Amino acid sequence: MQNLDWGHLGFAVRETHGVLVSRFKDGKWTEPARENGPVELSPYSLVLNYSTCCFEGLKAFRGADGVVRIFRPDENARRLRRSAEFLDMPAPSEEMFISMCEEYVRWNIDFLPPYGYNASMYLRPVLIGTDKQLNLKSPVEATFILMGIPAGSYSGAKTLSPVTAVISRDFDRAAPNGTGSYKLGANYAPSFHAYNTAHAMGFTELLFLDPATKTKIDEFGSSNFFGIKDGTFVTPLSDSVLPSITNKSLQQVALDLGYKVEKRVIPFEELETFEEVNACGTAVVITPIGTITDKPHLKGEEVTRVYHFGKDGECGPVSRKLYETLRGIQDGVVPDTHGWCYIVKL
Ligand SMILES: Cc1ncc(COP(=O)(O)O)c(C=O)c1O
Repeated sequence: MQNLDWGHLGFAVRETHGVLVSRFKDGKWTEPARENGPVELSPYSLVLNYSTCCFEGLKAFRGADGVVRIFRPDENARRLRRSAEFLDMPAPSEEMFISMCEEYVRWNIDFLPPYGYNASMYLRPVLIGTDKQLNLKSPVEATFILMGIPAGSYSGAKTLSPVTAVISRDFDRAAPNGTGSYKLGANYAPSFHAYNTAHAMGFTELLFLDPATKTKIDEFGSSNFFGIKDGTFVTPLSDSVLPSITNKSLQQVALDLGYKVEKRVIPFEELETFEEVNACGTAVVITPIGTITDKPHLKGEEVTRVYHFGKDGECGPVSRKLYETLRGIQDGVVPDTHGWCYIVKL
């Protein structure tokens, strides 16, 4: 076991023993190789010129029972294939994806945080198009890299402490009929400026509306939206949000706990009716949102309205229950009745 400060890992890159790399050439993938150091890439490669890149994020946990679990890797494998299909590029099979995740965790097992620190190993599979090609063409050659870091909470913030959000009216993360529902590298760089602006104004999260009409809630920059009201879990139905695996899992947990679930269009004015609002994603499962500020311009001082959620600066009770159940399943302390966890053979 590595000697790390497991309680304060944050989300910084802390290099493990290396990365697993497989290359697609002449119609087949090479046997995954263990590499340590820079991965070779031609300056003419498609990814450096035209951003032919998609990726995933998932986690492995060391359970209270000592069992090592990867949470829903089959879902991530399918989502990566869907992104690659959109880019018209080769992708690893579901089986190859899962077996590389498993091998990576086994190889780097001494970097997997012990149980009890609310920490895990964050796995980052990345698929890039690597043809030497300046023509605008889809890749026929690709490199699939599996990397990972031991990770605590994404921001280093206390678990379930509510944060502030602002509606993004000046910037969109997705275009109508665009790439919002795919996990492409190219979706993220264009939102950095908006995020930096929001942070400079004192907000933690940025809430995007539907890009066509700016009247409906879409999602946060790197997490889905859900609200709770009258015992119902409500989350947006939209073509431009990423289908979050955490959100999908929380919806099932909500049903299992006896709540209703609605996936539907949410006009932003409906914000005033929610008792609890959260961002959700692999990184921290749930980030409670304390306030959402609506202002015409991100950089301006004018504020149209501030919506408040939860009481006394605490995460709402329903959201907390959903969080604890899902984290319990990942840690092996709540029964995994849906067979979500993939057990790593050590
Ligand atoms: C834009 C966006 N939405 C939502 C999510 C949450 O998805 P998941 O729960 O699969 O991590 C992410 C993170 O992957 C994201 O980048």
